[in-house]
Amino acid sequence: MAEAAVKRIPGRGRFISFEGGEGSGKSTQIKMLSERLDAAKLRAIVTREPGGSPGAEIIRHLVLSGMGKLLGPDAETLLFAAARDDHVRSVIQPALSQGIWVLCDRFSDSTRVYQGRLGQVAPAILNAMERVTIGDLKPDLTIILDIPVEIGMQRAAVRRGTGAPDRFESEDVKFHQELRDAYRQIAAAEPQRCVLIDANADAGTVAASVWSVLRDRFFTADAANLASSA
Ligand code: TYD
Repeated sequence: MAEAAVKRIPGRGRFISFEGGEGSGKSTQIKMLSERLDAAKLRAIVTREPGGSPGAEIIRHLVLSGMGKLLGPDAETLLFAAARDDHVRSVIQPALSQGIWVLCDRFSDSTRVYQGRLGQVAPAILNAMERVTIGDLKPDLTIILDIPVEIGMQRAAVRRGTGAPDRFESEDVKFHQELRDAYRQIAAAEPQRCVLIDANADAGTVAASVWSVLRDRFFTADAANLASSA
């Protein structure tokens, strides 16, 4: 198959972040999209936050163990920021500048929602951390997977099996409802960057919605047809 022709910012990879609450199906959708890009002969990497680089994975372990919660919301935010700084500089920026697409499971909107809205960390701290860690590097597209809280929590519980819930999975229903509301508000406030997708459907249906957003935003009509038949 011919390489799919991509419109806008030639030579630079596209940066796509996936956001959503527990059990929204981000990892499944990222995997399906990466296979589709691969079939269209576009180079893409899959990465995640917190983590994605060796240094950031160490911080991930700390934060998800609940250690960050003991330190308080401001210090926990600094841990996420330190992880992001390493991840951006050692993985995301180098990939994008080589023309490689980056599919990232969570990015700065997670900090805005989890630490900002739910942890009540002041906007001034969040803004300062964003300036240091990402500068101008906003995702070209943020897919927000939206699912009713009860369904998402059930899915997450099934996936977890007998394992213990992590730092954020163990929060209550009210927390997860606020999380969903906060994501919906981000989607409404930044329609150029963010698309809210109904994730309460089978994986194939959600993947088709994700693909149609990419097709509209990034591909020329011919390339979209090529990649669709991949
Ligand atoms: P993970 O196991 O990757 O969860 P999920 O499958 O829901 O993505 O755990 C990451 C957790 O860290 C998740 O509950 C959200 C939280 N988080 C923050 O609180 N702030 C952040 O900046 C990021 C990136 C994640």
